[in-house]
Amino acid sequence: MSSRRKFIKTASLFAGGSISLLNSGFTKEETIDFEKATNDDELFAMVRKQLLIPDKRIYLNTGSLGPSPLDVIDGMHTTTRQLESNPVGENWGPLGNQMELVRKKVADFIHAEVDEIVLTRNTTEGFNLIAQSFKLEAGDEIITTTLEHGGGEVGLDFLVKTKGAVLKKIELPLPGNSVIEIVEGIKKEITPKTKLLMLSHVNTITGMLMPFAEITKITRPNGIYLIADGAQAPGLSFY
Ligand SMILES: Cc1ncc(COP(=O)(O)O)c(C=O)c1O
Repeated sequence: MSSRRKFIKTASLFAGGSISLLNSGFTKEETIDFEKATNDDELFAMVRKQLLIPDKRIYLNTGSLGPSPLDVIDGMHTTTRQLESNPVGENWGPLGNQMELVRKKVADFIHAEVDEIVLTRNTTEGFNLIAQSFKLEAGDEIITTTLEHGGGEVGLDFLVKTKGAVLKKIELPLPGNSVIEIVEGIKKEITPKTKLLMLSHVNTITGMLMPFAEITKITRPNGIYLIADGAQAPGLSFY
């Protein structure tokens, strides 16, 4: 099975099995079974039906503001209505229990432990939680790159403004550098004051996969915290 097919099949399992199209404008109870596709064209026609983007529009942004599949949109509506029907009962009852199941699914999906998973509304909120709980002194140094997403950078800007931290940005040229260049660039910027390194795991602009295994060999021995902006990375679990 091609890795694209594997991705779609596994992503639909992650979303709860074959995709149901309740309340989505399609026939009630209609389901899309990706297994039935006999070739890539059929498969992608099925995927296309999952999106509300009009047929005539070619929409290539799956990164910063990508469309959600219908199953996700419908799930959000249905769940909001369920919660609003009995906020306390649902929050500490069925919906609260479902949140714990989601944590477990996410943990399995990215090969982590349940206790390591905190559900936030999005990556930006997660970054802000980390930044606001980070203990830094004035003059402590943070290293990042020139090609980070604003959702990740905003937490670093907060540390600069509120703690007096110094932000150093490694220049990453477009289209991209080699892994060795990046690792060497990081090494050059490290000083005894470096406390934090923040990098995108998969870069939102270039798609480059950062060599985190190599990078931890620099951060760990120096006691430097490494934050991975993993907004684009969960798909890597399939490869
Ligand atoms: C690398 C990266 N970081 C952060 C974000 C922001 O993600 P969110 O919308 O989940 O806050 C994005 C969005 O595309 C991204 O690509």
